[in-house]
Amino acid sequence: MAGRKKITLPDLQKKMMDGVPITMITCYDYSMAHLVEQAEVDIVLVGDSLGMTMLGYDGTLPVTMDDMMRHTAAVRRGSPTSWLVGDMPYMSYQPSDETAVRNAGRFMAETGCDCVKLEGGRQMASRIRAISEAGIPVMGHLGLTPQSVSALGGFRVQGKGSDQALRIIEDAQILEEAGAFSILFEMIPDEVQKIITERAKIPIISLGSGPHAHGQLLIFHDMFGLYPRFKPKMAKVFGNAGEVILNGLKQYVAEVTSKQFPQPDNWFGIKEDQLAELKKRLDEGGSGD
Ligand code: KIV
Repeated sequence: MAGRKKITLPDLQKKMMDGVPITMITCYDYSMAHLVEQAEVDIVLVGDSLGMTMLGYDGTLPVTMDDMMRHTAAVRRGSPTSWLVGDMPYMSYQPSDETAVRNAGRFMAETGCDCVKLEGGRQMASRIRAISEAGIPVMGHLGLTPQSVSALGGFRVQGKGSDQALRIIEDAQILEEAGAFSILFEMIPDEVQKIITERAKIPIISLGSGPHAHGQLLIFHDMFGLYPRFKPKMAKVFGNAGEVILNGLKQYVAEVTSKQFPQPDNWFGIKEDQLAELKKRLDEGGSGD
């Protein structure tokens, strides 16, 4: 919306303190971001899930820093006032604190995002500390962390057993102490999310982890029927844009084939005198030089 002021970190903290739910969406390009901006979504994540939704890979591991930079900068142009999160792709932060700070810095300097997000628990605490000490806000990501999907045994709910749930709760505490300004939880049980939210002093965001967090995240393509391979249980379809677009495409094919399209509204003409002159010059064998 034209009049909205830029969302800042204190705005998000205030929403948490006031018990006002925070809205967050994953989206990937200028046109989508323009719509998200008009809807006044608080946080926009340019997720490395773009590897699947935009690039057609089976997972997120092939996504590069260059992929992320281009899409994040495009989303910033479409959504100038949201709190914009750049998602650090596979191996852009895992190797060392120094690599993590360098790549987080590239995100901030070259895309105009407001913060970065990275996946992982206690083993990533020093990365979070290093990035936040460099003055860059960092969001943690716990529960199902798609970059570790092989080690986790697939895309499945995390923390169903008490051992794993306890570890996630401890990880949340460790990431908060390391300097994370917020943590996103993907696919953990609602009661575990509740315990974490009650203990946290930073905004907690849920993706498929129930209603007790300070905010909710969904992926744009899941919300609008745009991802062809599957619809995750945690997603709700708010409008089937995929179906609308497919019907439009079928109609386009039918209209071109039956010569109903294009109509005069859809093309450009030339003035009669110019056309006559053109034909005359062609007849005379003239050139355009
Ligand atoms: O890449 C992404 O969209 C994400 C969400 C699944 C949390 O990281």
